[in-house]
Amino acid sequence: MGKIVVIGSINMDIATDLKGMPEIGETIKGQDAVISPGGKGANQAVAAAKLGGDVMMVGMIGNDAFGADALANLNSFGIDVTHVRSVKSTTGLALILREHGDNRIIVSPGANNDWPDDLPLEEIIPAASIVLLQNEIPFHVIEKVVEVALKHNVPTIFDPAPVEQFPVAFLQKITYLTPNESEFKELPADILQQKTEAVLETRGKEGVRIHRSRGKEVIPAVSVEVKDSTGAGDTFNGAFAVAMTNGESLPDAVQFANKAAAQSTTKVGAQVGMPNLEDITNTK
Ligand code: RIB
Repeated sequence: MGKIVVIGSINMDIATDLKGMPEIGETIKGQDAVISPGGKGANQAVAAAKLGGDVMMVGMIGNDAFGADALANLNSFGIDVTHVRSVKSTTGLALILREHGDNRIIVSPGANNDWPDDLPLEEIIPAASIVLLQNEIPFHVIEKVVEVALKHNVPTIFDPAPVEQFPVAFLQKITYLTPNESEFKELPADILQQKTEAVLETRGKEGVRIHRSRGKEVIPAVSVEVKDSTGAGDTFNGAFAVAMTNGESLPDAVQFANKAAAQSTTKVGAQVGMPNLEDITNTK
């Protein structure tokens, strides 16, 4: 299996459960807060590593206790952290408000916005069999990664989250786009005309819609008892990368990723419920 390189965000998540959202100017009591490793990039890396992927994480942390915890967490999954750097800003933080299994997330980027110019992308990317990206790091870094990946024929997966108005010419260079339903609506209609092989629209209980130039196909959802959907999209991306690196067909890889994402929602926390291979085999 080739190397899966994740280039993206590393956060610590502070999550609490609420029975309703506060109004402006109101203070409400939540449950006890849980602090755990997160960040869409780190979550993707952990998801892929738990499923047997050979994973490298490229990302930025602060020189603080949260940065040390985040780094130790990546190390504990055997992820190559050669290019995780400690920078001046504080480690990225995500405040997660959970209500009935759904979540609202506020990200404070910190170190995730503090990327050095001297990352050896020309060394890192040609050694990858696939590169995973999300939108929690500076866009100029993402654009540069995609250019280098194109030059070396390395496929890319981009989760356009948080969503924004991306240039069409940029989106058309990505091999696999993985928006959720609401992010999909923000994307332009004509992205399938160039390098983009597929858009994988993750639709929660309605499964995954595969959009290809030859048409659409739906991979049905897996029925599970959802406790926390935080990190489900990241698990989908990490698992999809593992399956593609293992040479599976696109629909089979999506099915595998779909099962992994469903499993990840059965426990509370972005990374806690991420499955290993055995858990997936046992998923109907
Ligand atoms: O996708 C979930 C992740 O989004 C959380 O772990 C949080 O850190 C934010 O980046």
